[in-house]
Amino acid sequence: MSYHIAVLPGDFIGPEVIDATLAVLEAMRATHGLDLEFERLPFGGGAIDVHGEPLPQVTKDACSRADAVLMGSAGGPVGDHPWNRLPREKRVESGILGLRRHLGAFANLRPVKVFPGLEHLSPLKEANARGTDLLILRELTGGIYFGKPSYARDQQGASTMVYDRYEVERIARVAFDTARKRRNRVTNVDKSNVLDVSQFWRDVVVGVHRSEFPDVELDHLYVDNAAMQLVRSPTQFDVVVTGNLFGDILSDLAAVIPGSLGVLPSASLGGAVGLYEPVHGSAPDIAGRGIANPVGTLLSAAMMLRHGLSLAPAADALEAAVQAALMDDATVDLGGSRGTAAFTEAVVRELQAAPATA
Ligand code: NAD
Ligand code: IPM
Ligand code: MN
Repeated sequence: MSYHIAVLPGDFIGPEVIDATLAVLEAMRATHGLDLEFERLPFGGGAIDVHGEPLPQVTKDACSRADAVLMGSAGGPVGDHPWNRLPREKRVESGILGLRRHLGAFANLRPVKVFPGLEHLSPLKEANARGTDLLILRELTGGIYFGKPSYARDQQGASTMVYDRYEVERIARVAFDTARKRRNRVTNVDKSNVLDVSQFWRDVVVGVHRSEFPDVELDHLYVDNAAMQLVRSPTQFDVVVTGNLFGDILSDLAAVIPGSLGVLPSASLGGAVGLYEPVHGSAPDIAGRGIANPVGTLLSAAMMLRHGLSLAPAADALEAAVQAALMDDATVDLGGSRGTAAFTEAVVRELQAAPATA
């Protein structure tokens, strides 16, 4: 069976980690009979320069038609840059948000794992990092990212955090459902001690739990304490469910546990077509130097194989090959010696050494 993948490389290190990942997926044609066809599409700052917008219609249409969407990362340098001076709706980041909305991808799965044997790559004490296997489930198409009013005027700026009941109910269901397939625990993270929208969020989560998932263990943390607990003792968590903004911040923080933002993958689900993208951004500070870590994108591709294409054996093989390659010698950002190309070749070698048995 052949699958059509819409590929959005994006900007700066986006194309670097995407090229690495496509090379690995292409190698899996021979080792694992993987039959993927890739369509590269304009997206991000590059698309602004050529098409005048970050998410051109041609890209939207191709994503809707695809079996899955694989994204690198997009965006310009954090300081002053022409892309950052555009009106809000023309900015790269609005293209990213627009794509998630377009695909109906409301559930963002951001797994954080410390592979056995790779505890030494964590800046945490090895004993604290060991066994980390948590999932940040971030609501992705609502909250303060999309609420109205939203403006920046001369004397005032505002953004509004709004959640509708159906939005909280559906992400809560994904959280409890997912927990049942894991260790059956959900931690809800909010700021209900201060924010009315968070009190609403919590009440809805508790309601869904009572009526539909009473068998799942549920507890609650305020987001400030959750941030501290995540790096103090990450193994206490199974599924962490939270809103759009809190999930964004907590997932970058959680990247410290395995040792680099470059290793975290994600899957954005809920619509007809899933979106798979690393958690990190376009990293203009290291672009063009051959040291971008492709692991986040490789593991996102593994999530695509598993969740989007139902190819669990291929997903398992890819994850195992990444883990074995890291064990042998990690990437530069993790304190190892391998750049993007050397690491990619190592993953391909691991796949060739352990071909599919099926
Ligand atoms: P960033 O994630 O790009 O970089 C943060 C730090 O992590 C940098 O020091 C960077 O070098 C490092 N890093 C990130 N990915 C890495 C990798 N794969 N290998 C090694 N090191 C890596 O965050 P930022 O600097 O705040 O944002 C840069 C741009 O990316 C901005 O325009 C932002 O809006 C955009 N962004 C895009 C996405 C996305 O496309 N999904 C996500 C986050 C940020
Ligand atoms: C992420 C990014 C995006 C977000 C930005 C670039 C729009 O930080 O995917 O984590 O905030 O969702
Ligand atoms: Mn982010």
